[in-house]
Parts: sequence; structure tokens; C-alpha cells
Amino acid sequence: MKFDFKEYNVVVTGGTRGIGKAVTEAFLKAGASVTAIFHGNQAAADQLKQAWAGHPLEIVKFDISDYSQAESFYKEYDAKHKSLEVLVNNAGIRKDNVLGMMPPQDWNAVIATNLTGTFNMSKFAVQKMMQNKFGRIINITSPSGKFGFAGQSNYAAAKAGQVALTMSLAKETARRGITVNAVSPGFIDTEFIGDLPEEAKKAFIQQIPLKRFGRPEEVANAILFLASKESSYVTGSVLEVTGGL
Ligand SMILES: NC(=O)c1ccc[n+]([C@@H]2O[C@H](COP(=O)([O-])OP(=O)(O)OC[C@H]3O[C@@H](n4cnc5c(N)ncnc54)[C@H](OP(=O)(O)O)[C@@H]3O)[C@@H](O)[C@H]2O)c1
Repeated sequence: MKFDFKEYNVVVTGGTRGIGKAVTEAFLKAGASVTAIFHGNQAAADQLKQAWAGHPLEIVKFDISDYSQAESFYKEYDAKHKSLEVLVNNAGIRKDNVLGMMPPQDWNAVIATNLTGTFNMSKFAVQKMMQNKFGRIINITSPSGKFGFAGQSNYAAAKAGQVALTMSLAKETARRGITVNAVSPGFIDTEFIGDLPEEAKKAFIQQIPLKRFGRPEEVANAILFLASKESSYVTGSVLEVTGGL
């Protein structure tokens, strides 16, 4: 299936590194205009900007966990773009620890970025999408949110919350032509899991039926399907891209 996203405006949070970077690049290749949001890694953002010079890529730096920063972003976005067709809530962080030892700031930071960030970005997107009676929102969750994972109570709670938000928002927006879905990647080879010891990586690979970690582009393919017109009867669902994990 070849997707055509010409005339589409797409926002990808965490769109300059890892999975988000692959999503940004896949949409650009398919003809979309993309706004990629990042938070701190200026070098990665500059590299992407340079690689796609001359293409309709905008890169914006702000903290999605801050409601007022999200509101300001959309005010500027509205002034420049007449529509928003696709929002990919991809930005996420991990601050792993067993719950008994978890500093409250690590709990709060993970919930604020992964869950509240999804709320902040979706709220203004929905308002804009309703004007055109069309939209696609795709939230990136994790198997951790479904099964739990020792040392990830903050991350798992945020990721489960994203799924609940996905299903509720899908019901609210269905009649307005807006679909809301989640993608749940398994182990994907990005800096996000770069801190795992080699031994742990080998053990995880043994548990994956396809016997390898996924590539960011493989997650991007699933996201493009959910963003396309071809996915018109899919809403409130979670698509797993886990190699069978
Ligand atoms: N990789 C995996 O194995 C895996 C598995 C399951 C789910 N996921 C989920 O997939 C998503 C992407 O993961 P990844 O592996 O691509 O991670 P990554 O390589 O660490 O990239 C994370 C991106 O999110 C951005 N970001 C983080 N906090 C932000 C904030 N407060 N405001 C704006 N942007 C922020 C980062 O910006 P900077 O570049 O400025 O830091 C970066 O662009 C996450 O939601 C993660 O939970 C990943």
C-alpha cells in the first residue's frame, strides 16, 4: 500500500529522534508537511533539519508537558496552517525504579510528559480538526501499559492511561470524522532502550517470536496506515508492533 499525504499537515511530538524521527521522515516521503516537536536535544533537531532542507519540515522546541507551552504552540500553528490532519503523540520518557524507591519527581515527570503531554497536545488538535470534520490522532503507548513491567510503575501507568484516553476520545470524536488510535511498539532499537545491558537485551530477544528488536521505520509504517484515509473504519484500537511479544 502506498500512502499519499499531499495536502496533509502533520504534527509529530518527539519527531526528531528515534521512532518519531522515522515517522517524520515517512510522512515527508509521502508528501506531507510536518511539524516535529522536540524538547532538549538540539543537535538531533539540527541534523534532521539539515537532512531535509528544502522539504516542508518545521522543527519546534517546547515542553509538551506544559499546558501553556502547548497552547502557545497551537496559537502560532493556527496562524500559519489552515488545517491539521494528523497528530502523532509520540514523545515519551522513562525514569525506571522500583516503586518503593521511586522519587516523587520521577513519578510526576513520567506522567506529565507521557500522559499529560498527550492530553495537552490532543486538546487543541481536536478543536482544530473539528473545524474540518477530519482528523487522525495516533498515540504511542507500550506493552508495559498492558502487562506492567517491574521498575516501570510510572511509565506503565502513563502508557495505560494513554490507551484509556485513546478509547474515550475516539468515542467523543467519531461523529466529527476524527479517529483516535494507539500504536504499541515492542522493543525498538532507539536510544530509548540504549541503557539496557547487553545481557538483558539478549534475554529480551529470546522472548520475542521474531527474535529481533524492531526498527523505527516498522513502527512508522503502522502509524502511516492509521493516519491514512484507508484506515477509515479503525478507531479506539491499539495496534501492536511487537514482533509477537
Ligand atoms: N524504543 C522502544 O523500545 C519503545 C517501546 C515502546 C514504546 N516506546 C514509546 O515510543 C515513543 C518514542 O520512543 P523512542 O524510542 O523514539 O524515544 P527517544 O529516542 O528517546 O525519543 C524521544 C523523543 O521525545 C522527545 N521528548 C521527550 N520529552 C519531551 C517533552 N517533554 N516535550 C517534547 N518532546 C519531548 C525527545 O526530545 P529530545 O530529542 O529533545 O530529547 C525525543 O525527540 C515513546 O513514547 C516511548 O515510550 C518506545
